[in-house]
Amino acid sequence: MQFAGSHILSVQQFERGDVERIFSVADRMAPYAHRRRITKVLDGAILGSMFFEPSTRTRVSFGSAFNLLGGEVRETTGFENSAIAKGESLYDTARVLSGYSDVIVMRHPAEGSVREFAAASRVPVMNGGDGSNEHPSQALLDLYTIQSEMAASGRSIDQLRIAMVGDLRYGRTVHSLCKLLCLFSGVQVVLVSPRELRMPAEIVEALCNTGHQVLESDALEESIAHVDIVYSTRIQEERFSSQEEADLYRGRFRLNQSIYTHNCEPNTVIMHPLPRDSRDHARELDDDLNDNPNLAIFRQTDNGVLVRMALFALILDVVKQVDAHARDVNWYTAGRF
Ligand code: NCD
Repeated sequence: MQFAGSHILSVQQFERGDVERIFSVADRMAPYAHRRRITKVLDGAILGSMFFEPSTRTRVSFGSAFNLLGGEVRETTGFENSAIAKGESLYDTARVLSGYSDVIVMRHPAEGSVREFAAASRVPVMNGGDGSNEHPSQALLDLYTIQSEMAASGRSIDQLRIAMVGDLRYGRTVHSLCKLLCLFSGVQVVLVSPRELRMPAEIVEALCNTGHQVLESDALEESIAHVDIVYSTRIQEERFSSQEEADLYRGRFRLNQSIYTHNCEPNTVIMHPLPRDSRDHARELDDDLNDNPNLAIFRQTDNGVLVRMALFALILDVVKQVDAHARDVNWYTAGRF
């Protein structure tokens, strides 16, 4: 695809070569993301950041990524702080905000809303999550993490064995990740969820139609026995009609150190898009895994900055200029990454 000036709305716009291009640019962002070098390549550029659903890492890492490239961030959070609360349409908001920004990232609770917003925008728009539909930048950072975790044992994304666990019906991160995996070959996917929260049929079909092996299950322990990655997810309580309904599913699949030791292969990597629900009745990933070296959840969050920097650099077409606008940092930085 042509990145310069494009919206990033769905992972379905990518071919395998596009994903590889994003990852190779992400690799080149490491000195800046790891605060050894500073670049001012986006000096004067403005990111419009609009998050109409709760967010910590997606919002802050998109903003940090833009700052690390030298740009500035203007932020709106919550409908109550926006003219949408006064009845303004997505069309009008997009026309207005795109006059104030060079690129926009948006999260919204309605499926398809970011695409509608992008159609009216005069600048590129990135989907930071639209309802339970898609979360393209998260899927890219997850796959980038999978690639780097697999590389440690001489493997690649092809022939990956992965179990996705939890709320596969409403979890937009696993929807986007499955669609991205369709671009690779020979992947085995075990989908572990309560019957009511199964992966949408069209995504399962897409995996099968691209030659991958899919197994659906509602039993955690046997499903995680022969996989390279366990990708756990939170019950998406905000998509249920009541907390009581969400309570039916919370805590159903809990991974802790003892279950890991008894069931997983020694190198199985544990992932989660975060936030993990650490309340007693949930705990899909127990705190007692925190010292497990195969827990990759904070490597995922660190990688999110690299991948989002890469997306900005590609969309604003500055990849070749990044290093020309750089210098070493002034401060002491050893040992953080
Ligand atoms: C995810 C999301 O918002 O879809 N969080 C994130 O962006 N890392 C997952 C979740 O909220 O459960």
